[in-house]
Amino acid sequence: ATAAQTPGSAGRLVVVSNRLPSGDSPSGGLVVALKDSLQRTGGLWIGHSDKGDTGAGSLSFHQGGGFGRASFTLNGAVYDNYYLGFSNTVLWPAFHGRADLMRIAPEYLQAYRRANSRIAKLMIPHLRTADRIWVQDYHLLPLASELRLQGFAGRIGLFLHIPFPSLADCAALPNPADLFEWLSHYDLVGFQTRRDLVNFEDCSSRLSRVQRLDDQRFRLCERKLRVGVFPIGIDSLGFMDEARNADIEDRMRSLTYSSMMIGVERLDYSKGIPQKFRALQTLLENHPELIEKVDLLQVAPPTREDVSAYRDIREETEHLAGRINGKFATVNWTPIRYIHRAIPRNELAGLYRQARVGLVTPLADGMNLVAKEYVAAQDVGNPGVLILSRFAGAAETMQSALIVNPHDPVEMAEAMHRALEMPADERRRRHLALLQEVLEHDVGWWSSSYLATLG
Ligand code: G6P
Repeated sequence: ATAAQTPGSAGRLVVVSNRLPSGDSPSGGLVVALKDSLQRTGGLWIGHSDKGDTGAGSLSFHQGGGFGRASFTLNGAVYDNYYLGFSNTVLWPAFHGRADLMRIAPEYLQAYRRANSRIAKLMIPHLRTADRIWVQDYHLLPLASELRLQGFAGRIGLFLHIPFPSLADCAALPNPADLFEWLSHYDLVGFQTRRDLVNFEDCSSRLSRVQRLDDQRFRLCERKLRVGVFPIGIDSLGFMDEARNADIEDRMRSLTYSSMMIGVERLDYSKGIPQKFRALQTLLENHPELIEKVDLLQVAPPTREDVSAYRDIREETEHLAGRINGKFATVNWTPIRYIHRAIPRNELAGLYRQARVGLVTPLADGMNLVAKEYVAAQDVGNPGVLILSRFAGAAETMQSALIVNPHDPVEMAEAMHRALEMPADERRRRHLALLQEVLEHDVGWWSSSYLATLG
């Protein structure tokens, strides 16, 4: 143990995530939620940066953003095997029910461990005994065990933003018992939904040594662990404002049909974009009167392009969009407008508000914040309808949406038809229930209830 922690001083919040939020671009919900606590406690956000000296033996500190930010760098090959390799070719597919897309290689697991050990080593000289460390997501599961090994005895929490896998997918991981050993070093592990907590219990009892102590406490690998369900929200009031003030250019307004449906997600195989396109095809086949009347704006920015499963889903998506457009388009109209680029947040907010239907139909998703953003963006007097996959974590608390099975094209097409035809009073009633939920459980509620439980 080589911890050089400063004892005695007041505890700060220290957030660690793979990506360090940038200091200048408009902040996402997570930053909005944590900024106050970070500022108040003189805290620090630590994350990866690809700029800088990869050999640097210390964190680099950055200006801007209103709170302390520090970055680490990793050797290029280690980073690739940690981020593209273990995080996104092993953990991501397994945790999203796609163990068939995993590629297991010993160097991935090795680099994942090495990266986490190095991050811990870089953090240790900057930590104080009273600090509370909040680790974000699946890239950093072993971080607590590494920090413990290097002498940090303070509180450490983890929040898993993605689903916890089912037993079958968990058993497909290389050395599944490692996962529980890593988790056992945290004081608190937070999940998005009850379903994730149930999967955790199921998997840990079958693949590890676990004993339930009470409602929220387990003895896991001989250590005490607290767990909880903390569904993440958005900066609801901020997003409502953004949508109201969105300056949709005239050009866009004239292109926007009164029956526009919208889908926004990274081009990821977990998002069910091909299933959504096929459902649109079924809609146009079963309801030909909708030809030239309805269209889908699909925004799907590129992501993790160096992983082959992501190249495959892009091929499939673009092929399908081309085929459906070729089959149904007329001289004046195309059923799918597909954009393979990121669109600025404020512009998206305006588009959500224009769209009659929000399509959030992933095959697996930790929460899905687009569902919440779509609701927050609506005009309360004349809101659009949210169609939500039962496999999105959001479905647990957003039952007033039209809940669908994304694997069933006929069910999805009928939900689209129903949404397009829905009378205003039913739209308002459903929207109000959803909006109350989105406002009540916003990202500020999420972070304060998590941190209160972490203690
Ligand atoms: C998901 C994960 C996040 C991740 C984001 C974008 O939401 O839960 O941890 O940051 O996807 O993915 P990327 O690989 O670009 O960071």
